[in-house]
Amino acid sequence: MNTAPASGTTSAGHGPRYSALAIAFHWTIAVLVLGLIASGWWMTGAIRDPQRQAVAYDVYQLHKAFGLCVLLLTLARLGWRLGHRPPPLPAHMRPIERFGAHAAHVALYALTLAVPLLGWAMVSASPLGLPTVPFGLFEWPHLPVLGPQDDPASVEAGFKLGHEVLAYSAAALVVLHVAAALKHHFVDHDGLLGRMLPFGGGAASS
Ligand code: HEM
Repeated sequence: MNTAPASGTTSAGHGPRYSALAIAFHWTIAVLVLGLIASGWWMTGAIRDPQRQAVAYDVYQLHKAFGLCVLLLTLARLGWRLGHRPPPLPAHMRPIERFGAHAAHVALYALTLAVPLLGWAMVSASPLGLPTVPFGLFEWPHLPVLGPQDDPASVEAGFKLGHEVLAYSAAALVVLHVAAALKHHFVDHDGLLGRMLPFGGGAASS
């Protein structure tokens, strides 16, 4: 994947914008990830409460369906990204800031793949064997994660821990990512946030 700036740098926010497709990928995945973190946090508590259990079961199915959407959208986004460079970073950014920005973006890509994959592996290992039926349409297959000697409950517990730790790490990284975008907007005034907003000015890039 090419994460380097396309060429040179841009100075004050009047440079190229992200393309419409890049913006659509970014905001669709962002909204889904925030909803998945909130729903994951809520449903794991609600499932133990008899009053809220029935709703929690439906939320589990929606969580799994939208989580799989994130996996598929991220694969599509990465495939597309291989052939499309983002607009260059603002000229004033120091090398350490450029490194931090690229590292955070690579980590966000990795987490939006790893978290849904771990969720899928977790439900595939579960001794309950509950089906995943995205939006009630069809039965999503399980991953072959269990060997003949494996104890399903321990394998499920391992994937569950990974899913939980990486999901909350993604949440922390999203907070940092938003803080950096707001710093560019309110402190640096360099137009970096505007070029990822759906209705900003400037020329379209990839
Ligand atoms: C980017 C995608 C995803 C995010 C950000 C996400 C986030 C979360 C979070 C924050 C929790 C709560 C963890 C806890 O507090 O214990 C959770 C739980 C859960 N997630 Fe996901 N998830 C994603 C995708 C998926 C997928 C694709 C599946 C399955 C196909 C899945 C299945 C589950 C299940 C079954 C639980 C409940 C685990 C339990 O009962 O303890 N998730 N998720």
